[in-house]
Amino acid sequence: MTTKPQFEVIRMQPENTNSVLVSCGTDCVIFDPWGHVDAWQELLNARHLHLVAIYATHGHSDHISAAPQLAAAYNVPWYLNPRDNDLILWGNPILDMFQLPNIPADYTRPTPLGAGTVKILDGLDMNIIETAGHSAGGMTYHFPDYGILITGDTIFRDGVGRCDLPTGDVKQLRTSIDKIYDMNLPNETYVVHGHGLDSTIGILKESNPYFVPKSACRTKCEVFHGCGCGCGHCHDDDD
Ligand SMILES: [Fe+2]
Repeated sequence: MTTKPQFEVIRMQPENTNSVLVSCGTDCVIFDPWGHVDAWQELLNARHLHLVAIYATHGHSDHISAAPQLAAAYNVPWYLNPRDNDLILWGNPILDMFQLPNIPADYTRPTPLGAGTVKILDGLDMNIIETAGHSAGGMTYHFPDYGILITGDTIFRDGVGRCDLPTGDVKQLRTSIDKIYDMNLPNETYVVHGHGLDSTIGILKESNPYFVPKSACRTKCEVFHGCGCGCGHCHDDDD
């Protein structure tokens, strides 16, 4: 008999990033392990959980601060789209801002991750969707059997991720948000964003001006300056 997976959003100190702990029986995986490594170890110990793997939505340090060290401590892979490998050390100044330890130069290397469907825990399938734009290696994770979507910083409850950081690209971000929109997920699908409040697909459709169909091009282009879709309403000159 398969145990039903439990999904939990974890907001580790210092408050900033939404991590997700998914457990199935005593096995678990962590998405975007933010905060101190010790805090994660305490949590896993307190719950008698056995860490199987770590997944990052992208390579910014506020989504991977504990990943390399946890991966080494538990001898498990941490997965990252290799297009974001160059961001791993680039983000250390962000950790300084939060007074978190830097990721050392000899950090445990991530395992490359691409799009597809994988079984991450017993009976738990996960779809991996490439959603570049906030960074070149952005990934969104979908659990079709449980109606849960983890978007990282591609889209937030009220907005989208910034595109002005290294490898960010507004055209790719627009394409990625179209991709999520075109998945036609049910309104009740629960959405965990990289920062801020969680939402649902219904809430995004109702209140996020970026989460509109391609046919609502004009509205979208007013916010996606320079998206380059060629509709005539894009403001490429503003780039
Ligand atoms: Fe980010």
